[in-house]
Amino acid sequence: MILVTGGAGFIGSNFVLNWLEKRNESVLVIDALTYAGNLENLKSVENNKGFSFQQADINDQTVIENLLSKNRPRAIIHFAAESHVDRSILGPEAFIQTNINGTFRLLSCSLRYFESLTAAEKSEFRFLHVSTDEVYGSLEPEDPPFSETTPYAPNSPYSASKAASDHLVRAWHHTHGLPVLTTNCSNNYGPFQFPEKLIPLTIANALQGKALPIYGNGLNIRDWLYVVDHCEGIAAVLASGQPGEVYNIGGWNEMTNIDIVRTICRLLDAKSPQTAKAAGGRHENLIQFVKDRPGHDKRYAINATKIFNTLGWKPKETFESGIHKTIDWYLANNDWVQHVQSGDYKNWINKQYASRSA
Ligand code: NAD
Ligand code: DAU
Repeated sequence: MILVTGGAGFIGSNFVLNWLEKRNESVLVIDALTYAGNLENLKSVENNKGFSFQQADINDQTVIENLLSKNRPRAIIHFAAESHVDRSILGPEAFIQTNINGTFRLLSCSLRYFESLTAAEKSEFRFLHVSTDEVYGSLEPEDPPFSETTPYAPNSPYSASKAASDHLVRAWHHTHGLPVLTTNCSNNYGPFQFPEKLIPLTIANALQGKALPIYGNGLNIRDWLYVVDHCEGIAAVLASGQPGEVYNIGGWNEMTNIDIVRTICRLLDAKSPQTAKAAGGRHENLIQFVKDRPGHDKRYAINATKIFNTLGWKPKETFESGIHKTIDWYLANNDWVQHVQSGDYKNWINKQYASRSA
């Protein structure tokens, strides 16, 4: 079996659903169920014999060690993190606690567990750390995309905390021989993404007739990847990646934020004519340019040549096919959006956008 941390979040839950659908191997999810963790994401597999869930914080070493020795996973896939850049600007503490301290504690438990394995089990074991392209910093328009050898230059509290976690993972391999794999991926989008991130926020707000906030001039560039493609990339690295190696995963799909939002609006005009009508004929009328994100990275882009050349992975979805699927999912799952848009999330939205004048 494999153990997945953060498996009730956006990418983690997509990974678990995809894994159980395609592979005949059990999954134990451990997740603290922060505001971003949602067991509704895993509802379709709750009765699957291969699925189990334990609510736990990765900082809780006693619980993690017990879970490891009881379940004896052959791999740990580490998704658990605080993941939203804007939250890391207003409240960095949780990012240090989970992304740095939590990864350190998980590594410590994993190493103790690894050392208890037989030689054959050791040769099979992998610790796969899921990280981000943001650790490489920001690109100028003419710069080549990030490769695995691009020097680290994180600019936000979020990316700094992820960079720190990547270094810890590297050190546990180099010093202690833990068989680690690290993946650094570009921006994901798809089902179950919390509507605080650009794409789901735009879809949810457009359908609710709310403003579509664009930071600064909207010309910042991200490299977008459909989440299931990311999950398959992780599975490929887990299956055949070389311990100690880093693999960049990206969509070969750079787009400005304003183009992303306009594309979503255009598609929604056709798919949801009644909300277009309520927005004065076009969802684009809801676009509002707002104060920029402090330290806003200009451009991210991934060179995903290594994972293609060594493991044969490349994205299956184009942005067009992926964004259609994503919008259709949000249209069909309005209940999910309603449920996550309550409680803590509402407080966050008030705090985040109250200080951003148009
Ligand atoms: P998410 O915020 O949707 O989910 C994070 C999950 O981790 C949640 O279920 C949360 O409850 C859980 N969690 C948080 N703190 C925890 C703790 N202390 N102990 C146990 N569980 C905890 O994040 P996501 O977008 O799914 O990202 C998953 C991973 O992928 C993160 O490590 C992130 O840095 C990385 N990543 C994300 C993207 C992206 O575009 N979303 C791109 C590249 C890499
Ligand atoms: O690059 C990978 C990273 O992508 C992941 O590591 C992070 O976990 C993930 O959150 C994402 O980070 P970004 O900051 O790029 O994603 P976000 O969706 O927050 O923002 C995407 C772009 O859109 C960014 O340039 C900021 C802009 N934006 C975002 C929001 C929420 C807006 O213009 N308006 C908004 O309301």
